Amino acid sequence: MSSIAIDGPAGAGKSSIAKALSKRLGYIYIDTGAMYRAVALFFVENNVSDGTDSRIESLLEKLEISIKYEDGAQKVILNGEDVTGKLRLEEIGKLASKFSAIGSVREKLVALQRKLAQKENVVMDGRDIATTVLPNADVKIFLTAKPHTRALRRYKELLEKGMEADINDIEADIIKRDERDMNREISPLRQATDAYVVDSSDKDLDDTLTEILFYVKRKFDERS
Ligand code: DC
Repeated sequence: MSSIAIDGPAGAGKSSIAKALSKRLGYIYIDTGAMYRAVALFFVENNVSDGTDSRIESLLEKLEISIKYEDGAQKVILNGEDVTGKLRLEEIGKLASKFSAIGSVREKLVALQRKLAQKENVVMDGRDIATTVLPNADVKIFLTAKPHTRALRRYKELLEKGMEADINDIEADIIKRDERDMNREISPLRQATDAYVVDSSDKDLDDTLTEILFYVKRKFDERS
């Protein structure tokens, strides 16, 4: 099986690139952030407010996350319920960042992610894919952009959805989330030493995809 790992901070364009890339290559796209978001939702529904709650281990035993695909789009199933529509809220993203620092949460999700990559050719995006989940991935990309650019993209996305937003609040949140994701003890967000780094600050989606496709082709040619 072949795998492409895409890591990077929030709002760098990972999911748009991973989706487009998987379509081009006929691979399955796995959005690991959505899995951490589903865990956050599950904890919120069970009134867990932080990582010190003594019920976390027993709740994790009751947590079942699976992935299915409908018209090529990933659906996240949490204990039998399709929760995909509930995962994109900013608040859930923040909580996912917080709860993703818990070792037992990571263990459970990393095991699931590895299992998925054993069965299919995948493009997987997240924070620790190239460093921890799939250290032998065929291609490793680290996709980043300046915090202000990332905030501006999120801001536009929210406005397009008809939601109210404040660009300064979004930028502050993005910086806080990056700090937490980069400084946690277990599998922090880090650039793998053998990753190809792409800064999308001054590029649109098409240009970023073209650059990445070019690199992927080169890696695949080297392999064959
Ligand atoms: O990519 P995202 O915004 O959907 O991710 C939500 C949070 O989940 C992110 O802030 C950190 C966590 N996460 C992680 O720790 N490891 C991953 N592989 C993916 C996401």
